[in-house]
Amino acid sequence: MWKPSERIIYKPRPGSVPDRETARRAMLFSPVTIGPVTLRQRTWVPAMVPWRASDDGWVTEDVLDWYGRFAKGRPGGLVVEATGIRDVPSGPLLRIGDDRFLDGLCRLTDRVRKESDGQTKLFIQLIDFLAIKRRPVREKFFSRFLEITDQHRKALGSLGVLDLNDIQIRQHLLSLDDQELDGILNERELESLRMGYRERVTDTHLEHIANLPQTLPELFSSAAGRARAAGFDGVELHYAHAYTMASFLSARNTRNDGYGGSRENRARLPLEVYEAVRSTVGTDYVVGCRFLSEDCIGGGNSVEDSAYFGTAFAQAGMDFLSLSRGGRFEDAKQPGVGQAAYPYTGPSGYECMPGHISDSFGPFGRNIEPTARIRAAIRAAGYQTPVVVAGGIHGFDQAEGILRNGEADIIGSARQSLADPDWFLKLSRGCGAQVRSCEYTNYCEGLDQKHKQVTCKLWDRQDLDEAGVPKSKDGKRRLVAPRWPDTDTSPDE
Ligand SMILES: Cc1cc2nc3c(=O)[nH]c(=O)nc-3n(C[C@H](O)[C@H](O)[C@H](O)COP(=O)(O)O)c2cc1C
Ligand code: SF4
Repeated sequence: MWKPSERIIYKPRPGSVPDRETARRAMLFSPVTIGPVTLRQRTWVPAMVPWRASDDGWVTEDVLDWYGRFAKGRPGGLVVEATGIRDVPSGPLLRIGDDRFLDGLCRLTDRVRKESDGQTKLFIQLIDFLAIKRRPVREKFFSRFLEITDQHRKALGSLGVLDLNDIQIRQHLLSLDDQELDGILNERELESLRMGYRERVTDTHLEHIANLPQTLPELFSSAAGRARAAGFDGVELHYAHAYTMASFLSARNTRNDGYGGSRENRARLPLEVYEAVRSTVGTDYVVGCRFLSEDCIGGGNSVEDSAYFGTAFAQAGMDFLSLSRGGRFEDAKQPGVGQAAYPYTGPSGYECMPGHISDSFGPFGRNIEPTARIRAAIRAAGYQTPVVVAGGIHGFDQAEGILRNGEADIIGSARQSLADPDWFLKLSRGCGAQVRSCEYTNYCEGLDQKHKQVTCKLWDRQDLDEAGVPKSKDGKRRLVAPRWPDTDTSPDE
């Protein structure tokens, strides 16, 4: 992962530990209403893909164990990982693109209800993504993937290479070095060679991309209908990071069919998707979205863009707005040959999942100020829609300060909850000294990048011989955090 050049090393800063009485009075542990549902506290575990689904997208026992473990810590809200809305193979990512996935998803909602004693509200993140290919072997790219065009002939002609047939052109291109290729291949061809081919929402010469405004509302709304049928308390539309809907919102979206260019046009499809979802699930069901406080790439969305979108989403009637930042493909690191680019490897990826090696600002709370500005714009427009913030939040003082300052309404913590799924529960019971603090070294994110079962380095080698504990495929890591005995014995307030 990319790291800021200052390379300042940060240790966790959990701050003070509240006693039980202080916790009882804390805003963090007070209820908040999101649309038709009330979270009993303002704690939230954002979506995290754990690579536990089967290769064809089914809920597995490992998926149940993963969410069951978070539910034991009884956060106010828990969001199930980005789940594919299309009925197409997408590796071990959960899917919701057909009714055959319903049984497994029902088992998932049952498990969370049981483990949290009905105290955690469960949402599912609905995602659409475009095609991305692995970085090709050079020989293969020139012999098979590259389409030879007149542009190539012209460029080679100006270098004195004339009268070659396609096969000879391919062989010639293969013999050129990077600098020479820069003058012959166009930007997209160079990207396909060096990073792997990647579709964009602006590729409107491709019929299925041109038609996204026609196809996506139905895909999202059918998926949301299934989420409701499976017993989820609501859906989170994934409008963040590197995926289709965030790319529609992005200032880099130059589509000229009424779905790109101005902010209003960029918001059009996300709003149409929302309307379709709403008309399927009705007004008595939670529908919110996750979007970016900033794209964190050159030419991408600023906080002002996102304040406009947040206000438009609130006006349309979304029940919550969850803010992430960055995580884009545009500045991703070059992948190895045979690997696909990963959107969390560049500077924007750092903004999304900041690690312990950082700059003078540090990794804790980079998303707070942008989120606060977006929330203020939404409030100024007269909407009370609850706002979720996430990014490096791992201590009571910090979380409580954010809420008391009106910077956000709900506290999301992904990696801190992975490090210690009971951390909110421990704090609320005055046992904060027992919290295992995330070190933000991004070991978990490295596993995610390799599509390996995600675990935390703080506990995945602990008590490996414990009876019944699920283990990784190689048997070397436990897949869920060890139990905190008090989870089962203390009454919850
Ligand atoms: C292993 C892993 C998987 C993630 N998967 C998702 C995902 O499916 N959807 C999403 O919106 N964010 C995803 N994220 C980002 C987190 O939800 C969160 O925004 C980010 O980690 C920053 O919050 P934190 O500092 O509390 O971890 C993932 C993060 C990690 C570490
Ligand atoms: S591996 Fe654990 S400690 Fe490290 S960043 Fe991930 S959750 Fe935090």
